[in-house]
Amino acid sequence: MEANARIYQDIKEILIRREEIANAVKMLGEMITKDYEGKAPVMVCILKGASVFYVDLLREIDLPVTMEFMIASSYGHGTSTSGNVRIIKDLDYDVSGRDVILVEDIVDSGVTLDFLKRMFKERGVNSVRVATLLDKPARRRVKLKADYYCFTVPDAFVVGYGLDYNQIYRNLPDICILKPEIYNK
Ligand code: IMP
Ligand code: MG
Repeated sequence: MEANARIYQDIKEILIRREEIANAVKMLGEMITKDYEGKAPVMVCILKGASVFYVDLLREIDLPVTMEFMIASSYGHGTSTSGNVRIIKDLDYDVSGRDVILVEDIVDSGVTLDFLKRMFKERGVNSVRVATLLDKPARRRVKLKADYYCFTVPDAFVVGYGLDYNQIYRNLPDICILKPEIYNK
């Protein structure tokens, strides 16, 4: 808590601690290494939320992966999805014929990843899978299953380890639930 003591004042509770996150990320890295043996997947980081998870996960994968970054947005401000997905930054790389793994922070309604998966299929990839840190199945609006996930979370708004509320709290090392007064302001 020391280093981030000030922003921790807005936290109601820690949901998943950094040690637990590190263990789960390591296991996921090992699983992907096994599943993609002999392949060189393109790992696409969906910015900004997945950034912290992404750099940790990639260092647990023992494969010649390539790193790509994308910005997609289905949210304005607030805590629920608008339903539209906008690509703000696309890849600068042709992924046809490649094995793509989309790395996301959280699957909530599923709208973002459903859109992105279809977009990558249209680009002629060999395969496209989703690896997410968190899965929040209670709020799903489309039929989307993450191929890989570290944790299932309840229907609460979470921040930390890359996840934000109005762009803040991404640098918290643990996954936390905010005090309700923060987003009822
Ligand atoms: P979806 O399209 O509804 O699945 O939304 C996915 C995006 O919504 C994620 O990449 C997050 O940026 C954001 N999101 C959904 N739930 C949360 C949450 O609990 N905390 C922070 N961001 C969230
Ligand atoms: Mg996001």
